[in-house]
Amino acid sequence: VDVSNFDVKALIQDQTKTIQEKMEIFDHVIEEARRQKLYLFFRTTTGPSENHIDAVTLETGKTQNMVMMASNNYLGLTTHPDLKEATKKAIDYWGIGMAGPCTLNGNTTLHQEFEARLARFKGCEAAMLFPSGYSANIGCITALLGKHDFFIGDELNHASLIDGARYSGAKRLVYKHSDPADLERCLKEVAGSPGIKLVAVDGVFSMDGEIADLQPIVALCRQYKALLLVDDAHGTGAIGKHGHGAMEYCGVEGQADIVMGTFSKAFGCYGGFIAGSKALINWLRHFGRSGMFTAAVSPMVVAACLAALEVIEAQPELVARLHQNSDYVRRRLTEMGYELGGKDAPIIPIFVRDRAKVYGIVKEAYERGLFLSLIEYPAVAPGTERIRLTVMATHTQGDLDFALNLLQELGRKYGALKGA
Ligand SMILES: Cc1ncc(COP(=O)(O)O)c(C=O)c1O
Repeated sequence: VDVSNFDVKALIQDQTKTIQEKMEIFDHVIEEARRQKLYLFFRTTTGPSENHIDAVTLETGKTQNMVMMASNNYLGLTTHPDLKEATKKAIDYWGIGMAGPCTLNGNTTLHQEFEARLARFKGCEAAMLFPSGYSANIGCITALLGKHDFFIGDELNHASLIDGARYSGAKRLVYKHSDPADLERCLKEVAGSPGIKLVAVDGVFSMDGEIADLQPIVALCRQYKALLLVDDAHGTGAIGKHGHGAMEYCGVEGQADIVMGTFSKAFGCYGGFIAGSKALINWLRHFGRSGMFTAAVSPMVVAACLAALEVIEAQPELVARLHQNSDYVRRRLTEMGYELGGKDAPIIPIFVRDRAKVYGIVKEAYERGLFLSLIEYPAVAPGTERIRLTVMATHTQGDLDFALNLLQELGRKYGALKGA
């Protein structure tokens, strides 16, 4: 089996095979990838995820300390002492869980304080926690839209927005990536229809390292009386001078009807939220099914996330450092001749335009102490596979230079550099 070129999409769509046959073929591909020491997903790690990580190499099976550039731990908060301390205190006081939803089981003062602080951080009236960013998008979209309504989204939107739209039953329109004229075409198409129009866009495109140009989107939504949902999973805590997110970066803070965020990236933890008007949040508290028919985020997680918010607010230099590091990496990779995607985000996609080379570079980097992500279908469209490198505020100059020197060597070896 040619593991690096196996067509997973064709397998999934194959109408001639049963699901049992498909699973067996896929299982065989994974086992073959393992045998060829090319299975680059679910890699085994044996220590905390920081700027470095202990991970088990594929060739030798030995644990090695690596530079971590495959995590969304932008500010290095996963192991921050304030967060750990707050979590321990919360366990001692509150115990470990809520054993049910806040709707019925009680809403702690800790949850209430955190939601109020988040709302302020996002320039909104109110906020509601969800178990994850994924479920926040699902719960919000399905609570707002039904089959007589319209969901309008960028073609590169995150899966959670797409899935929310699908589950809602709304009619879906897709506009060309980052193309306001095409968004306007969609808005015009539905302008005469009575249903709700919801425009949804990633604030930072997670596989493309690109910050959405939100000004024209805000203006078009106003003009056509559409609601705007900005998925700021990767912006929250990482983008904008104060880490308020993509809206701050674009100068439109407080101008979206709905802002979604997650704690699984810059906050170093997990959980998600929706922020918006008080009326929206009260609606979601009672009709956002993925938030109400599920247990509340545990107090220890809320405490960790509240401590993260405090660090982000007290230390804007962390966000500044993140961007210095990412600007440096972008500049040097571009000088080497790599083709990069996006701009100004700490997510740096590296396009090699050859799947076997992508596998080769990610694998060899890993064996030599640099942990990168390999991105392929279903995260991105077939033919647009890429290496994804994420920068952290806590990467040292030594970490960055180690990664860059190795990537230069591998870029030459695999013929991945322009003009080389
Ligand atoms: C743009 C975007 N939206 C939503 C999510 C989901 O967030 P979470 O990890 O909290 O479920 C992610 C994370 O993968 C994301 O990148």
